[in-house]
Amino acid sequence: STLLLVNGPNLNLLGTREPATYGHDTLADVEALVTRTAAAAGHDVRAVQSNHEGVLIDAVHAAREDCAGIVINPGALTHTSVALRDALLAVGLPVAEVHLSNVHAREPFRHHSYVSDIAEVVIVGAGIHGYAFAVQQLARVLSR
Ligand code: DQA
Repeated sequence: STLLLVNGPNLNLLGTREPATYGHDTLADVEALVTRTAAAAGHDVRAVQSNHEGVLIDAVHAAREDCAGIVINPGALTHTSVALRDALLAVGLPVAEVHLSNVHAREPFRHHSYVSDIAEVVIVGAGIHGYAFAVQQLARVLSR
């Protein structure tokens, strides 16, 4: 089955954006890693990145048609978007939330997530490897 990979605002700049915080790997590297990890677990991947909240919400809605789970790094929308949370709830697919950085070691406004309490798995601070862990755990959830 297919997994939806969602990356939110500013993650298109991965690799050049604050590399001390987010590392040197690019969004293309993330998408390749997720695709490879998912394939090893028997899943396909559809990847979307947008800087626009509504585009992400539409992508989550579309996942209802043909996806089995969602891996999402909502970027700053993590801390602000009730609408994205509601979209994830509406679709009802298992969610794996990923953050490259350890948001809990950063500014207080990054400590709250609108997604974490509705996610099956939350991985922070593992850099791009977190996406691979998220895929593996999502695949386990889907196989049980
Ligand atoms: C992030 C953490 C967020 O607080 C931030 O707004 C991002 C990236 C991360 O992957 O560490 O854009 O989601």
